[in-house]
Amino acid sequence: MGSISKHNIILIGFMGSGKTTVGKRLAERLSYQFSDTDQLLEQRAGDTISHIFTVRGEEYFRNLETDFLKEISRSLNQTVLSTGGGLPLREQNSGLLKEMGYVVFLNASKETTLKRLNGDTSRPLLMGDELDRKVERLLSKRTPIYEAAAQKIIATDDKTIDEIVAYIMEAYLKQIY
Ligand code: S3P
Repeated sequence: MGSISKHNIILIGFMGSGKTTVGKRLAERLSYQFSDTDQLLEQRAGDTISHIFTVRGEEYFRNLETDFLKEISRSLNQTVLSTGGGLPLREQNSGLLKEMGYVVFLNASKETTLKRLNGDTSRPLLMGDELDRKVERLLSKRTPIYEAAAQKIIATDDKTIDEIVAYIMEAYLKQIY
């Protein structure tokens, strides 16, 4: 066995970086389960993330994320887990992610991110005006944190979904065999 102890892939990165799309296809190729922390949290809360942010605030949502991660961290197996863009920001969470599997950062430039998020209404942190400035500020704050949390960094700007998936598979399979 290679250098990781658990057979899971964890995708991290900014909103719009392709974690869910890539994660689903990657899971198919590996015959793994696919899970998404945002979807699971919404199901569990019976509410949307936007509504949770509005009614309870960001800190409450971050606590939900951490509690949830602690809960699933031991049981996850043969799973591709896509994570909410803010989840690795807490050190406790990024520590747990590393214990859970092979952590891959899907990196996208500001330009690509803006294109993908244009018109989106589901991300509470990006609501209102000045999307450009918000994305720039958050990206520069978060990018070093994502880099430190990941075992593999993939520049996604000029790659197709299939190319990204192939790249991750190659790197991951080297780790486990
Ligand atoms: C967030 C990203 C969102 C969601 C929430 C907060 C963030 O997930 O968890 O809106 O802080 O970056 P996606 O990265 O899947 O959009």
